[in-house]
Amino acid sequence: MTLSPDIAPASTLELSRAYAADFARSLLRLAFKNVKRTGDVVDSEYNGGAWDRVLNERGWLGGVPLEEFLAGQSPSPRLAKVNGQLVRIATKDYYRYRIRALSELMMRHVGDATSLVELGSGTGYNLFSLSLNPRWTQLRGFDIAPNGIEAGRQIASHYGLDGRVSFDRIDLTDAQDPQFGQLAGATVFTHFCIEQIPYAVDAVIENILRARPGRVVNIEPAIDMLNLSDPRDLASRLYLKSVDYQTRLFALLDELEVKGRIRILSRERMAYAPTLHNDGLLYAWEPLGG
Ligand SMILES: C[S@@+](CC[C@H](N)C(=O)[O-])C[C@H]1O[C@@H](n2cnc3c(N)ncnc32)[C@H](O)[C@@H]1O
Repeated sequence: MTLSPDIAPASTLELSRAYAADFARSLLRLAFKNVKRTGDVVDSEYNGGAWDRVLNERGWLGGVPLEEFLAGQSPSPRLAKVNGQLVRIATKDYYRYRIRALSELMMRHVGDATSLVELGSGTGYNLFSLSLNPRWTQLRGFDIAPNGIEAGRQIASHYGLDGRVSFDRIDLTDAQDPQFGQLAGATVFTHFCIEQIPYAVDAVIENILRARPGRVVNIEPAIDMLNLSDPRDLASRLYLKSVDYQTRLFALLDELEVKGRIRILSRERMAYAPTLHNDGLLYAWEPLGG
């Protein structure tokens, strides 16, 4: 994708100001909040917080087409990563770009699959984005948050996507969760979900491996690729620490490859992010052996 003329590369001054504000917020969070990301914290941020608001606002009833509902209408400029570059872009344009970027990213990493399962799908933002591309014939989401699942189901029904986009509950930390049975042979992805489960990364990956998916694509924050002499990467590192997101996933996947339990098919730094610090890494892999 090429940058359109109405997207301006962020200036050094803008970036310096933004990094300074980001550093300050992260340091304050570290000093005063000391977040420990337990299941209760995640439940109150998502099920009782963001997803509860989405469900109560019912923005999909506003009479707008799905793409507009997803991208929103905000002309406010933001600093975001687009095609690997930090730019100033209207919020609605960033989210419109992200819809296509996600679909293209998945196409590059999932081989011939036309059906995808997202673990930690929330209200289905990614699945609905993908649904705008007819290539994806079946999109199934699983999440622990009942309000996310309910919002996803209502959005699917409102836009006539019942049967193509569906939602169910899973607790990725629970080895006995019966929904792991749905993953056998499937092409599965996570998108900023395992970040929320820093104290059970090994258990979650074991549970996924035991379910024998065909392929897994993890898109999650990481420290592995960060160069801490770069202010952008330092801002990301400090942010991750201040919100207590996982930092172990990609080292674990590398270890599993050395042990011959998985084959890593690709590793890629994410080319898009909605803010300076939401930088992600992608690993696509498949389980090996019986
Ligand atoms: C940051 S949101 C990401 C949502 C979506 N993947 C996206 O990119 O917009 C993280 C999601 O992970 C879910 N989650 C957290 N812990 C989980 C668990 N143990 N099992 C399943 N989902 C979980 C949360 O409920 C939330 O919906």
